[in-house]
Amino acid sequence: MKNIAIFASGNGSNFQAIIDRVHAGDLTAHISLLVCDRPGAYCVERANAAGIPIFVFNPKDYPSKADFEQKICEQLTTAGVEWVILAGYMRLVGPTLLKEYEGRILNIHPSLLPEFPGKDAVGQALAAKAKWSGVTIHFVDDGMDTGPIIVQERVRIEANETRESLQRKIQGIEHRLYPEILHMLLTRGEVKHDEKTSTY
Ligand code: GRF
Repeated sequence: MKNIAIFASGNGSNFQAIIDRVHAGDLTAHISLLVCDRPGAYCVERANAAGIPIFVFNPKDYPSKADFEQKICEQLTTAGVEWVILAGYMRLVGPTLLKEYEGRILNIHPSLLPEFPGKDAVGQALAAKAKWSGVTIHFVDDGMDTGPIIVQERVRIEANETRESLQRKIQGIEHRLYPEILHMLLTRGEVKHDEKTSTY
């Protein structure tokens, strides 16, 4: 069974979905560590409730990104982490972490990349009056939401769509899709997905 670390900065609803699927036996993985860059974030409470070890840090306490990523790498090595799963980690991964885990870092993003990368993808899609948005799961490289795409699932944006309704639809997909894809990737090393709703 693969050892994974979840990286999160805020609420951690995707983290919770992963915890729940692991507990239910649908996702074969061991969550060895939560890495959180915001002390006080709700994801930390979720980790505590689930008995998952936590490394929480404040980037401001370190002279540079290389320094806090070095510390993260030490924590990951100590915990025996093999895969890094970003789930609402609001920070670009730098060269220090990327070098250690290249090809073994995943991210989930609330749009059909390459459309609407970066912050507030839901707001960006609404502002652009897009007809479709969705969810992308991809490998992480040194760009902003630019790495190779593993799977995408689309959601239609209705004429009366609000930020809340679109957010709810997107998160509903995320909570199902991320654990499902993680299970395939971590247990079989490949991903098969319904082509009707997905683009590779
Ligand atoms: C998710 O929408 C994810 O796609 C994006 O950040 C959000 C995190 O939400 N990267 P949560 O903290 O998992 O609730």
